[in-house]
Amino acid sequence: MALPRRSEPPDAGLIPRPRSFAYLPGAYKPRAGATLSADPTFAAEAAWGIEALSSAFTVRFAPGAPGKGDVRVVRARGLGAEGYRLEIKTAGVRAEASEPAGAFYALQTLRALALIWGDRAPACRVEDEPRFAWRGYMLDTVRNYFEPSFVKRLIDLAALHKLNRFHWHLTDDQGWRMPVRSHPELAETAAKKVDRRYLPHVERTLVYSEAAIADVLAYAAERHVLVIPEIEMPGHVTALLSAHPEYSCAGGTFEPEDRFGIFPDVLCAGSDEALGFLGDVMDETARLFPGPIVHFGGDEVPVERWADCPRCRARMEAEGVPDVAALRGWFTRKAAAMLAERGRRAAGWDEVVEGAVPSDVVVLAWRSAERGLEAARAGHDVVMCPGAKACYLDHKHLDSPDEPGHLGVSTVRDSYAFEPLAGFDAESAGRVLGVQGNLWTEIMYFGRQVEYMAFPRLSALAETGWTPAARKGFEGFSRRLPYWGRALDRLDVARYRGPLG
Ligand code: ACM
Ligand code: ZN
Repeated sequence: MALPRRSEPPDAGLIPRPRSFAYLPGAYKPRAGATLSADPTFAAEAAWGIEALSSAFTVRFAPGAPGKGDVRVVRARGLGAEGYRLEIKTAGVRAEASEPAGAFYALQTLRALALIWGDRAPACRVEDEPRFAWRGYMLDTVRNYFEPSFVKRLIDLAALHKLNRFHWHLTDDQGWRMPVRSHPELAETAAKKVDRRYLPHVERTLVYSEAAIADVLAYAAERHVLVIPEIEMPGHVTALLSAHPEYSCAGGTFEPEDRFGIFPDVLCAGSDEALGFLGDVMDETARLFPGPIVHFGGDEVPVERWADCPRCRARMEAEGVPDVAALRGWFTRKAAAMLAERGRRAAGWDEVVEGAVPSDVVVLAWRSAERGLEAARAGHDVVMCPGAKACYLDHKHLDSPDEPGHLGVSTVRDSYAFEPLAGFDAESAGRVLGVQGNLWTEIMYFGRQVEYMAFPRLSALAETGWTPAARKGFEGFSRRLPYWGRALDRLDVARYRGPLG
């Protein structure tokens, strides 16, 4: 008698849901001494896969002779940059990909099944590729500092969800976390802050070392995650001003902020020294981060200091800038041009569109989805990460005084329901690179708290980034979620387990 066709759980519990999934009879249970072999093009992915499968399956995998592994990763044509085919049978596993990222995602799917199902993976056939090229998350490591080990852990968890962009928020009012060789004073003063998580009187210099950054980049590259550093300007710079008060309009004494919000002191747009300093910082950013994109902030820039500043007024006069609001645009165009001179594509928050930055600047739409549409219509590539009821993972999971979070409520259902292309015409939709979840950490002090706020909303957003809209559905997602939770449990991930909204 034929085995009954399985339908539960849907897609074996996988998140993001594959483009196509069918159960086959039985399960693959690796024997002791199981091997993995891969086309030489996929050597790096195979090395990663051997480690990942060995910890997911509880059986140690070894490299197999070419074409002979229990798990074989072969090269096929026509599967795209990130697409793959995966066939899991009782006798073994065959994965096909055209490019390394596809091979990685095939192995990531196998790893995910092993994490869900323990020592086996349900037999199945999967054909898969992502909907969007940019599937991101942002971690604010300024409001609170997170150890490089946690930064890496989150990269690994993101990659498990097939996310491929890590936007690393490195500077803000509360700290300056990027080392700058030519300006060691930044690390000495701006990065110093009482670490509230430990004894209140213990001061640690909470800046990432060059070695830590290189280590994070290598770890991310192994997982096909591109790191986009963010160096904020011209607002959110109180920590910088604590080292260089002369780069503010009015001078004075500054301390890295112990509060969060929007502060009036910004970089003086009239100061050539401040711009020269930014050039040094961009040189260093380009040296430490070889990736193609650098985010330069651009959000929440008060202009009240500029209005009263003789140097800023002189700049406006010299450059024909009609008013202080337009000086914002002048500054952001300047910053984008300085990054372009250094061979980097600039990215900025959606305010930069008002500054008429060149259309090759990538815009992250955070204030609303409509801002994303405006940016796309202005010719920008856009990443959709609107805050309200969607992509801000610092919001509460539930409207309850017992839930951590602030500034809003985004239930798992809300985050899942966010459709990045809703309201977009076809031409503008073509400019949407993808979707991103943002982890602002004003009220997250520990990695565990970040995990709790991230999951499972980031799982929901990952599905939006990967799965075709027609294949999405909250009902199916919520049926898969308890199984996906087993994978997260295996990795000891703290997560929200309450009502989904
Ligand atoms: C932002 O949340 N200020 C980008
Ligand atoms: Zn000024």
